[in-house]
Amino acid sequence: MPTHPAPPRTGAQIREAFLAYFEQELGHKRLPSASLVPANNPTVLLTPAGMLPFVPIFLGVEPAPNPPRATTSQKCARVSGKASDLEAVGRTPRHHTFFEMLGNFSFGDYFKADVIPWAWRFVTEVLQLPAERLWVSVFRDDDESYAIWNQQVGVPAERIFRCDEADNFWGPPGPTGPCGPCTEIHYDLTQNPNDPLDTRLVEIWNLVFMESFKDAEGRFTPLEHKNVDTGAGLERLAMVVQGVANTFETDLFTPLMAAVSAACGVPYGAGPATDVALKIVADHLRFIAFALADGVVPSNEGRGYILRMILRRALRYGKQYLGFEGPFLAALLPTIVAYYGEAYPELLAKAAASNTLLLREEHRFLETLDKGSKHLEEELQALKASGGHVFSGAMAFRLYDTYGFPLELTKDVLQEQGLSLDEAGFEAAMDEQKQLARGARKHNALVNDTVYADIVGDVGPSTFVGYQALEHRSTVQALIVEGQRVSTVSGTNTPFELVLAATPFYPEGGGQVGDKGHVLCETGQEGGTALVLSTRKVGQLIVHSCLWDQGKALQVGDALLASVDDTHRQGSACHHSATHLLHAALRQVLGPEVTQAGSSVTAEGARFDVSFPRAISASELLRVEALANQWITANYAKEAVELPLEEAKAAGALAMFDEKYGDTVRMVRFGPASVELCGGTHVASTATIGVLRITGEQAVAAGVRRIEFEAGPVAYRGFRQQENRLKELAGALKCPAEEVLERVQKLQEGLKQSEKQVALLEEQSLLGLAPQLAEALREAASSGMAKPHVLHCLPKAAPAAALKALGEAAMAMAPAEQPALLLLAAPSSGDEGGGTLLALANAVAQQQGLAAGAVLSQVAKLCGGGGGGKPAMAQAGLKVWAQLPSAVAQVLG
Ligand code: SER
Repeated sequence: MPTHPAPPRTGAQIREAFLAYFEQELGHKRLPSASLVPANNPTVLLTPAGMLPFVPIFLGVEPAPNPPRATTSQKCARVSGKASDLEAVGRTPRHHTFFEMLGNFSFGDYFKADVIPWAWRFVTEVLQLPAERLWVSVFRDDDESYAIWNQQVGVPAERIFRCDEADNFWGPPGPTGPCGPCTEIHYDLTQNPNDPLDTRLVEIWNLVFMESFKDAEGRFTPLEHKNVDTGAGLERLAMVVQGVANTFETDLFTPLMAAVSAACGVPYGAGPATDVALKIVADHLRFIAFALADGVVPSNEGRGYILRMILRRALRYGKQYLGFEGPFLAALLPTIVAYYGEAYPELLAKAAASNTLLLREEHRFLETLDKGSKHLEEELQALKASGGHVFSGAMAFRLYDTYGFPLELTKDVLQEQGLSLDEAGFEAAMDEQKQLARGARKHNALVNDTVYADIVGDVGPSTFVGYQALEHRSTVQALIVEGQRVSTVSGTNTPFELVLAATPFYPEGGGQVGDKGHVLCETGQEGGTALVLSTRKVGQLIVHSCLWDQGKALQVGDALLASVDDTHRQGSACHHSATHLLHAALRQVLGPEVTQAGSSVTAEGARFDVSFPRAISASELLRVEALANQWITANYAKEAVELPLEEAKAAGALAMFDEKYGDTVRMVRFGPASVELCGGTHVASTATIGVLRITGEQAVAAGVRRIEFEAGPVAYRGFRQQENRLKELAGALKCPAEEVLERVQKLQEGLKQSEKQVALLEEQSLLGLAPQLAEALREAASSGMAKPHVLHCLPKAAPAAALKALGEAAMAMAPAEQPALLLLAAPSSGDEGGGTLLALANAVAQQQGLAAGAVLSQVAKLCGGGGGGKPAMAQAGLKVWAQLPSAVAQVLG
């Protein structure tokens, strides 16, 4: 281990020291940061952690590097979803929308016994942080990590604490994915035992033991390998190494803070409100610079919305608190590019484009910010005048829709004024508008979407050619970027919409999701590819939502090869055919009054809503499932024909009640089992479905039941997971799977017996205290106290009967000729901080005015509780256990 004469100090030095430590001393591959825009995870908008780029490796989908260990400094954002830090930024010493996460990763290689001592060595020897300032937390029952910290590393037990899922279980980074228990290193900022631990300690490094996969239903299955994922926030490390009060005072921020201050003329330290605003502007600027450099474009959706929201928030704070007048963010970008350009060259490469984009966005919002603010101010006055506290959601939506005020911004303003927002109202207004837009598209031939009307007028309706073929050559008829028709699209990750003359991509409809895939440009400027993320129908057009991937540019008129992702298509077709069988089976089992009320079919699962007046019983569902699976095994071939509506009806085809059909319809039949009118895509014969598995049934509205189910490989996985779980259970219970139920019943019975026995034993062992208490009562009586008494608090909860038995035994042993007043207390078993108090007084004590009931009711009252009883014995519940000694002192002292 090379010695570090002086520990690294600046942010850049710390970053380099970390990467070099893992690369040179511990054989890790040093990899560059991945983009803030996740390449392989559509469920995550922006990379929230260093592990995200490695998810496919953790899941075993992609091979691990050789050797299987890596180290990175990853650009991360925590502005959306479950881990959003947005509201904390600028108000705590250590939260950011954008930050750098240093990490090391083991892909089935090393585990706890190696990584814990390595991490310790880095913080104590490389960073040279004093060991006595370091605390660690481990997951609840992770005794192995505890032992490594305590025995191998030497962290004393009083600086190791155990936490549960809320604090020491990390991930997954999206709705599904790898996750596991973790252990964290914390730094003691004040070393003052009077400070609460959450302000005193700052978490500086999280070591996650990635060993499980969480699926969409919230189930955990073990990963094939045990992995390690660690993350240390660079800004926080810099803060503790540099000994400053917050991350904004580290060298990672000081140049930017100074530049913002100089631009507005407000110095840092001038006051709390301007300091918060300076920090928010600096923080947000960094997010903006890095997001733009990774190709995020401000828009009204997804990550584009997040960027726009952050940018508008920064503008408002700057204008409101720092006196900025016009646009000011773009002018500050060069400070960030200069500081970070070397470590992240994409900032340099995109500097000019980012500047243009940012300036345009600033102008755009500043045009409406004043008007919007004025409008908001008027609404606030009106609300306050009426004595209200909750701002209308519909109004917040109007501010968003008319003046471009992101919801988060309106919430900031409300929070400053101590008001809250009716968020449900906002969501409802948003939904209503979406419905209107959708309705207008569906029934009203594009009245609102002039751009699509314009295109359909020029090029005519799109043709779908994808029932058989999954690939098709076609030409680009129209391109749309941000709602505008354009002739060319370029730039990696530019979102755009594409219209082709004929397409194999199924557009979302009839409950089935639209296809995904890609298009390959075969002519034009040197070729190129675009990802098709989804496909939908807008009137008579089929519109592909795409992301330009690589190549120079795509132009109207270019020839393309359009390819549907066949796994995705196969998945949705399989679920769609399964839906038809389920529908037919429901009618057969429950009767023809079952009618379809809606459906949603994806590649990962499906749900089917039916009008039916009551809950469908478990046995009915089993019959439905069995019948559908019988039809699957019978392997009925699909027949799809186009024919006049009347003929289809005569053939008994089921049709959706309120769906509009043309004169010619498509009828899909699976042997004698099912015949429906349907435009969707299906499997060639029912056996391809494999298996159908019903996973749930519930009410969604009065008279409407929803059935959730899976088909094909998804269903198989579901069964497999259930079976694995049963095996695990049987293993844990040490019995064959068939006997699990019996075994659990026995265990429960045994547990009940044991509990009874424990209660008995506890009572007996408590009774052992009686002589001691009697002796204490005797001493109290002879001590000359004005109100002789003994208070005894048991260390843990005890049943009321045991408490009473002990009290009575002690009283019986105490000398009857002297006063004896015994207060016996036990804390409650939960963690709500309450307890039970029993008071007993003998005849002499009662004669001296110390009746149990009277004493007890006074004491209980002071402890926020109540209760009472006779002069000889009384019992009360206490709310504030900790208050008891002082309450007794006050009443009897
Ligand atoms: N994934 C963990 C975190 O984000 C450790 O890298 O904290």
